[in-house]
Amino acid sequence: MTVEIWPVTESFAAEVGDADLSTPLSAEDWQTVENAFHEFAVLIFPGQTLTQQQHVDFTKRFGPIDPSMITDLDGVKPRVLTYIADVSNLLPDGSLWSEDSRLRGFQMGNQLWHTDSSFKEVPAKASLLYMQSIPPVGGQTEFADMRAAWDALPDDLKVQAEGRIARHAIAYSRARQGFEMSETENTSMPAVPQAMVRHHGYSGRTGLYLASHAGRIDGVADDEAAALLQQLMDHATQRQFVYAHRWRADDLVMWDNRCTMHRGLAYDDLRWPRDAQRATVLDVAPTCEQEGLTPDAMAVAAE
Ligand code: OGA
Ligand code: MN
Repeated sequence: MTVEIWPVTESFAAEVGDADLSTPLSAEDWQTVENAFHEFAVLIFPGQTLTQQQHVDFTKRFGPIDPSMITDLDGVKPRVLTYIADVSNLLPDGSLWSEDSRLRGFQMGNQLWHTDSSFKEVPAKASLLYMQSIPPVGGQTEFADMRAAWDALPDDLKVQAEGRIARHAIAYSRARQGFEMSETENTSMPAVPQAMVRHHGYSGRTGLYLASHAGRIDGVADDEAAALLQQLMDHATQRQFVYAHRWRADDLVMWDNRCTMHRGLAYDDLRWPRDAQRATVLDVAPTCEQEGLTPDAMAVAAE
């Protein structure tokens, strides 16, 4: 079997034809997929039939797993392997969550633009989301190309972002929607430093590194930081940088968290099951370390 790459646009998102991810790819196919991942940042693998273990096994070829934090939330019972993040609207018994469930309130955060695990010191490199049942309307996932956004960024904003460190916390993104983390959750997940601009060795490209998890910038007053983050976010999520994926059941979509953002669009989650399971690959090191930046410990102490 030889896999085929069908670009969605010239440089962002591609469909991968005739790859069966339930068994190991040949060395040649693997190379094709890896190269396409680096070039297009979002890959769509239609028609997959995978067990949870097979999903995890394919994911591990890209690096070590970033375990799900959803199980760290107070009172949440896992429905899937702990290696997998359950981003569905389903409870362990297969029924839909209820309107006032805490998990629902938390997962609504996925509707804000973000990159996965940027609230962890070592964030996610890649995410592989496997969709087994879909709502008939709504529930698309949108992806923004942060390299194209960087290329088109006005020079004065490039200067303001380059070399800067932002602080990311899950509490920052959740607060935007009025969701309150408990004190134990906040203590176990404090804000972490992340480079605001990343240089990608494999492609030679530069990208903004942003998320709704970002709340502060080192050395910048909080109100100015909030305004700059918003300005960059508004720029990066303009339609010309965005691919919206309309799911088919059994799609697996993989994205590069280092140079993209994504968000889930709303659907009638109290009516339709949407069984989305994500396995996630860890990045190799903290982003500041990768960019040669040294976060100021005082900035943390000042919080
Ligand atoms: C995720 C995520 C959005 C969606 O799995 O990391 O943000 O559309 N998902 O389910
Ligand atoms: Mn996500």
